[in-house]
Amino acid sequence: MWYNTQASKILNIQYPILQGPFGGNLSSVKLVSSVSNLGGLGGFGAYTLSPEEIISVDRQIKAATDKPYNINLWVSDSDVPAGGLDDARYQEAVKLFRPYFDELEIAIPEKPLPFISRFENQAEALLHQKPPVFSFVFGIPSADILEQCRKAGIVTVGAATTVDEAIALEASGVDLIVASGFEAGGHRPSFLESSENSLSGTFVLVQLIREKVKTPVVAAGGIVDGKGVAAAMKLGAEAVQIGTAFLACDESNITDAHREALFSDQAKDTMLTRVFTGRLGRGLASRLGQELSGKEKQFLPFPLQAHFMSSLRQAAIAQKKTDLLMFWSGQVAPALRHRTVSGLMNDILAETSASL
Ligand SMILES: Cc1cc2nc3c(=O)[nH]c(=O)nc-3n(C[C@H](O)[C@H](O)[C@H](O)COP(=O)(O)O)c2cc1C
Repeated sequence: MWYNTQASKILNIQYPILQGPFGGNLSSVKLVSSVSNLGGLGGFGAYTLSPEEIISVDRQIKAATDKPYNINLWVSDSDVPAGGLDDARYQEAVKLFRPYFDELEIAIPEKPLPFISRFENQAEALLHQKPPVFSFVFGIPSADILEQCRKAGIVTVGAATTVDEAIALEASGVDLIVASGFEAGGHRPSFLESSENSLSGTFVLVQLIREKVKTPVVAAGGIVDGKGVAAAMKLGAEAVQIGTAFLACDESNITDAHREALFSDQAKDTMLTRVFTGRLGRGLASRLGQELSGKEKQFLPFPLQAHFMSSLRQAAIAQKKTDLLMFWSGQVAPALRHRTVSGLMNDILAETSASL
């Protein structure tokens, strides 16, 4: 059967369908366990969580499913220069963003505090909990962390946005490689070149990576139904990772406004922008993203830009000024049809079986 792939065997799951993990508090235990209980691989994006929160979430997932699941972290989680943020850079951002804070009649935030990377402590919590699968983006964990995963029987999954990144991941010995195309919703997790210089589409990336590496490849970006799964597998993917279609389901942790936007006419335009976090990410096009396109030099580095924008985000939500927000989404959103995980999974499995 089409679903008995090498990736299914490595992950110990029935169907090679991975639910893309969502960072920034958009994952939910319900979403992860629903996908895993239906034979796919649920994934929890944990990069903003403290080690204690990771331990708590992992326990909750273990209580909700006895099937394999994935916890996801960001290896590189800060672009702040070693000396911290200088005043001049902060003042540049203040100048650029003041009209939007004024429009919402809220104060400009103070200069964000320095940021200390959380990855090492998060990885320690993860190793303590031993989830069946650990996926990561924005880099490769140290050889020591990967070795500890191997010893603990944790399957490791890295993400590549270019062939060179896939080659580097294979050299580190990861079990699976996600080929992340630029259609995908959320951040563009490049780690060798800038994200702007790493913009291959999913199907190009899957084919090129397959030519250069032996590690099984998971296709991510632009897949929403069984025809997409079948196409990715025909091109050599051993599994797929689906984000936006699971994000739209009732079980995810997005707001009602975000969910309705994904199913609305607004979904026909997405854009890649650094304006909301300081790293390049795809979401529904918005006035703020469009007006500030080309002004990236005046944004703060990740994650300080996200901290700087946090009060603006909250005020825009409260005042229903959605043109000052960005709802994360992949390009495929206009093709969304499902509101529940079971409806989505059942249709994907039936359609893939019919197509292959
Ligand atoms: C809101 C949102 C947040 C995401 N956060 C993460 C994350 O923290 N870690 C990660 O590996 N992938 C993250 N992704 C990427 C997804 O896991 C998945 O690879 C991608 O959405 C697949 O493309 P698609 O949206 O076209 O289906 C995120 C995607 C979205 C839409």
